[in-house]
This record gives sequence, structure tokens and C-alpha cells, in this order.
Amino acid sequence: MTSQNETPISVTRTQRPGPRPDDATLAFGKVFTDHMFLMDYEEGKGWHDPRVVPYEPLVMDPATSVLHYGQAVFDGLKAFRGKDGQIRLFRAQRHAERLNKSCRALCIPEMDVDLIRRSFEAIVAADHEWVPRTRGTSLYIRPTVIARDVMLGVHPAHRYTYFVICSPVGAYYKEGVKPVRILATDTHVRAVQGGLGEAKTAANYAASLSAQQEAERAGYTQVLWLDGVERKYIDEVGTMNIMMQIGEEVITPPLAGTILDGVTRNSILQLLRDWGHTVSERRVSIDEVMQAGRDGTLREMWGTGTAAVVSPVGELGYKGEKISIGNGHTGILTQKLYDSIVGIQYGEAADPHGWTSVVKAPVTA
Ligand code: COI
Repeated sequence: MTSQNETPISVTRTQRPGPRPDDATLAFGKVFTDHMFLMDYEEGKGWHDPRVVPYEPLVMDPATSVLHYGQAVFDGLKAFRGKDGQIRLFRAQRHAERLNKSCRALCIPEMDVDLIRRSFEAIVAADHEWVPRTRGTSLYIRPTVIARDVMLGVHPAHRYTYFVICSPVGAYYKEGVKPVRILATDTHVRAVQGGLGEAKTAANYAASLSAQQEAERAGYTQVLWLDGVERKYIDEVGTMNIMMQIGEEVITPPLAGTILDGVTRNSILQLLRDWGHTVSERRVSIDEVMQAGRDGTLREMWGTGTAAVVSPVGELGYKGEKISIGNGHTGILTQKLYDSIVGIQYGEAADPHGWTSVVKAPVTA
């Protein structure tokens, strides 16, 4: 696609800025900033009218297609305020590319990647005062595309809206970086090859809800998803990618069409390879992991995602058996990975791969 990097983004500022929450009260995705980014698509006209406007409800006809058939994609990335007062986005380009990849999977017309990246910068610059200041907090950015045809026929839409909203956030899990308990399920599946598993689309999250509810009722925090065919190989954990260290080998399931190409997953694999670890992107069965848990070679297990960064697993349940990992403590490698990613995000550590980009906004340390 040709670059629309020069397309002007208009900015209309709110007349009624909202109260900004205290950093200490921040949870995940409960309060939203003063502005949002909008852009429209119409067949024949393409994507047009990129703009920052005051945050307000989207008014929709009840027959709008996204409400019925879920033609919707989203992504999630974060902006961090460093001690130097600079605001940095983490891997904005990769998130922009992934949003387009999700669009392709749902028959949504792609956007210009530069323009997507600029939409992130524009909304963060407009709401820069909303980027919280306490370490551990950040501004979560949620770009989303929805189908806007008003009709009940099942067909890719001819009109879409792209919007970006932002939420100042604290820790994703109320436990913070503490080991969680996960339950492997062989009764529910999240995705199958040829389906939507690698797209960040509403349907995958809807498909996860009943298993998640069952896991919570059984006292667990998250579901460990197994593959949809043999119900044998590990796919993902909750809404995150999964990794484990068995002996000297760090293992994560391969990108084979059913799991999300996580940006944190990719960053962590890069760091592990930089540090000289043996890393395998390979199929790993639940039986192999349970056996490693029994014989003591399962050293660490953790989930990776933008929201939580790294989430250690302290207990794994499967078919009535429970395996404790690291005696319920966060593993050394898990903690090192968390600290390293977070150090780069806040501009405290070197960023050899150029993952962060500074948002041009007034510096208000
Ligand atoms: C993430 O880990 O960033 C996620 O995808 C979770 C999000 C859906 C809340």
C-alpha cells in the first residue's frame, strides 16, 4: 500500500476535560481519557478523515453489522512515562502491522501502517497528561475496527469505523506479578487451524468466556488452552501466550495458525536468544508438561501479554491432578524477563532492538 504518512490528522480538543484518577487507584481499563481517534471507511472512498475528537459514545443503529456478526478486530499497546518525563510507545510499528493482519483475517480493508502508528502517537500526544507517573502504571491504547453496515445479511461490510481509545492502567491482575493458578481444559477449545485463532478479534474472547468462568469456579485464575483437534498440545493461557522452562530448554508453542503472534512473546524470545538460552518454538503436550512437573524438571512457566507483560504460573491443574511450579514463587528467569522488558519500556534500560519510540508531547515529569 502507498504510505499516507503525510495525511493530516485534525485535532478537536474537548471543552470538558474529565478528572484524572490517582495513580494508586488504577485498575485495568476502567477509566478512559478525554479524547479518541476516529477514521472512517466507505467502499469507493477508502479510509478517510483521520481525526482526534473528544471521547464520546458511538451512536449506532441496532442493525449495525458488528453487533450481530462480530466483524471486529482490535489490538492493545501501551505508552509509558519514564523518570525523564518522556513518553514512550512499546513496539508501535509491530502492533500496527498486527492490527492490519487481523483486518485481513476478518475481510476488513487494511489501513496504511504509518497512519495507524501515527494514530497512536496523535491520541497519546492529545492525552499526554493522562499517562500516569508511577512505575508499574501506563496508558493502555486500544485501537479497534468495527463493521458499520446497517443490514442483517451475512457479508463483509462496505463501511467501517476505526477508533482508538486510551485508559490509564495499573496492574492487569490484582495479584500483581505473583504466580497464578491455571487449569488445563480438554472440554473447551479456543481456536482451530483455519479459524480465527491468530487474529485479535472479538470472537476469540467470546469463545473463551465459559471455560474461564469454569476455571474461576474451580479456584483458578486462567484457562490453559489445548489444541482444538487432539486436545493434547498446549496453545495459550487465558488471553496470553505461554512459555515454560523444562530443564535447560525454554519452550513455547509455534505460530501455526491457532495462537496470537504476541508482541511480548516475540520480545521475550528475542531477549532469551540474546542471552544465549536454548529456545524452542515447538509443540508441547500437556502430558509432557505434567510429567516434567512430576519429575521436577519443569522449572518455570509464565504467560506473556501486553496487559500483564509476564505472568508467572505457580500451579497447573489437569484432570484432577495439581502440579506446583517453583513452590508458588516467581521464577528467576520469569522475574528477569519481566524486569528487562519493563526496564526497556520505561526508558531505564538500553533498547538494542529499537522497540520504543518517544511520543512528541510536552515533557511534564
Ligand atoms: C493482553 O495480554 O494484552 C491481552 O490481550 C489482554 C487483553 C485482551 C485485555
